[in-house]
Amino acid sequence: MIKESPKDLVPKFFNNTSNSYDRIVNWTTFGKDSFWKHEILEQLSNERTVLDLACGTGILTRQIAEKLPNVEIIGVDITKNYLEKAKEKLNLYQNISFVNQDAEKLNLGKKFDCITASYLPKYCIADVLVKNCLEHLNVGGKIILHDFTYPKNRLIQKMWNFYFKLLFLAGFFIPNWKQVFVDLPILIKTTNWVREYEEIMKNYGLKTYKQDLTWGFSTIIVGTKID
Ligand SMILES: C[S@@+](CC[C@H](N)C(=O)[O-])C[C@H]1O[C@@H](n2cnc3c(N)ncnc32)[C@H](O)[C@@H]1O
Repeated sequence: MIKESPKDLVPKFFNNTSNSYDRIVNWTTFGKDSFWKHEILEQLSNERTVLDLACGTGILTRQIAEKLPNVEIIGVDITKNYLEKAKEKLNLYQNISFVNQDAEKLNLGKKFDCITASYLPKYCIADVLVKNCLEHLNVGGKIILHDFTYPKNRLIQKMWNFYFKLLFLAGFFIPNWKQVFVDLPILIKTTNWVREYEEIMKNYGLKTYKQDLTWGFSTIIVGTKID
């Protein structure tokens, strides 16, 4: 069991990993991270303003800017190192700005057509995050949440558990990521983020849509604010 709350894991995971994050996320998901982000982008069409919560090093932020060249994007992240990396990588994009804030205490004083968050939901309290998103969302706008999930199929679970054992061993060679490879599988197995966010979105009157990806290794939930 992990002693800390999911939120306490955030500095532990991210204070020292921004330089290698892009490589590690691509490598550890066998490139599936790109496919999952492509599926997030499929939900976007003609939005003019997008808020990318937990933008990290800006992987998804950049892809949104490339899909929607006229969009205005704000990337928000709680971890300064990650945000610095995103600023450095995306400094040529005039339509992207970055803000260092906690998504659970979000206060940007404006509303957006869409709010995206990849790999954020499991660290947050569903009710707090959805409420904050709704305060920043235009009517007709979408909240798109994506994160890891523990597969439901028994055989796939066995593969998943074996894979994280291998990652644990890999952690001895990548010390900055060692603790992530220990705690992340426990967090993914114990979180109920999909059920909690879906329920909260429905309670707030959002129209929801759920999509399981790659044998249930991750999931996207879309909530549309209809009034
Ligand atoms: C695994 S990274 C994902 C980055 C990016 N979304 C991506 O898909 O590549 C998770 C990010 O969530 C950020 N984060 C975690 N909790 C947060 C919170 N409460 N508010 C804002 N950012 C948060 C971390 O700082 C980290 O940069």
